[in-house]
Amino acid sequence: MADLKTNFAGLTLKSPVIAGSCGLTADIEKLREMEKNGAGAVILKSVFEEQIRMDVQKMTGNSDSSEEGDYLRNYVRANTLQQYIALVKDAKKNINIPVIASINCIADGEWVSFAKELEQAGADALELNVFALPLDEFKESVETENVYYSIVKHLRSQVKLPLIVKISHYFTNLPTFVAKLKAFGVDAVTLFNRFYEPDIDIEQLAIGVAPVFSRPEDLRTTLRWTGILAGKNPQLQISASTGVHSGEAVVKMLLAGAATVQVCSVLYEKGIETVQALNRFVASWMDRHAFRSIGQFRGKLSYGGMENAARYERAQFMKYFSDRK
Ligand SMILES: Cc1cc2nc3c(=O)[nH]c(=O)nc-3n(C[C@H](O)[C@H](O)[C@H](O)COP(=O)(O)O)c2cc1C
Repeated sequence: MADLKTNFAGLTLKSPVIAGSCGLTADIEKLREMEKNGAGAVILKSVFEEQIRMDVQKMTGNSDSSEEGDYLRNYVRANTLQQYIALVKDAKKNINIPVIASINCIADGEWVSFAKELEQAGADALELNVFALPLDEFKESVETENVYYSIVKHLRSQVKLPLIVKISHYFTNLPTFVAKLKAFGVDAVTLFNRFYEPDIDIEQLAIGVAPVFSRPEDLRTTLRWTGILAGKNPQLQISASTGVHSGEAVVKMLLAGAATVQVCSVLYEKGIETVQALNRFVASWMDRHAFRSIGQFRGKLSYGGMENAARYERAQFMKYFSDRK
């Protein structure tokens, strides 16, 4: 019988399928449903650095009267940090699978000390979703990267919790970047964050928001980089996120070298019971291929060996066009 047990960021999970951070993971009933349907772990909805900072400023009497300041203050009021800590504690009380807290941040700072409170509240690990859109043409790329290293080093000095960093693919040299994150104490990386993207309404001449849910074909970038990074650095633990909507997609990510696979959009669109279907598919696929454990096939098709490497590397259409009649 196929065993889906997986080790990830120092945790032992019953399945490599994790419920990714989103609105659903802020609701205890839904977390219970995720556990019942076989999720290996849950990543709670993120608390935002701005919330943490504002809470600190509230205590110190800062008075920013801008519209943005107002918005954030209202947001903080509705989502105090104590509520987040209560969510962690509640989740731990109600489910037995690992509970991963999540912080969404853009810079290093005093807010980092909040991670200690999450550790004390019983979080099993912490996922950091770091992203600051680089808009300053006078800033060198390395300055942006240094922000990540600085946050990680600061956090590592504060907590012993397993640390997962969720990143975007907008980096000049991902292999170097993630190798450095690992050297600074990160236990795993999540590839990749999916952003709130702008869209343009050509009739209203207005900027709006693109669909927030991913589509199955959105998994390509994650698949490529999971394969490359896992192949180059087998010690690196990768959680693959974006575009995983089926059991086939889970198997592909594991073959590429992911330790775990996160799902979010598909849970909104098809329901939380999808997790069970994904696990069932992986188990039956493993039986069909006589694999008894995830370790027997994880990374089997990662970047490495001449043939696989060439397929991961080919980024242009030269071959396609030369073969096409
Ligand atoms: C409604 C919604 C809310 C989300 N909230 C968060 C969040 O609070 N923190 C976070 O790191 N990612 C958040 N995400 C991103 C997801 O965790 C995930 O990275 C992204 O949706 C790609 O995975 P998917 O293709 O399985 O949806 C959210 C996504 C959606 C659709």
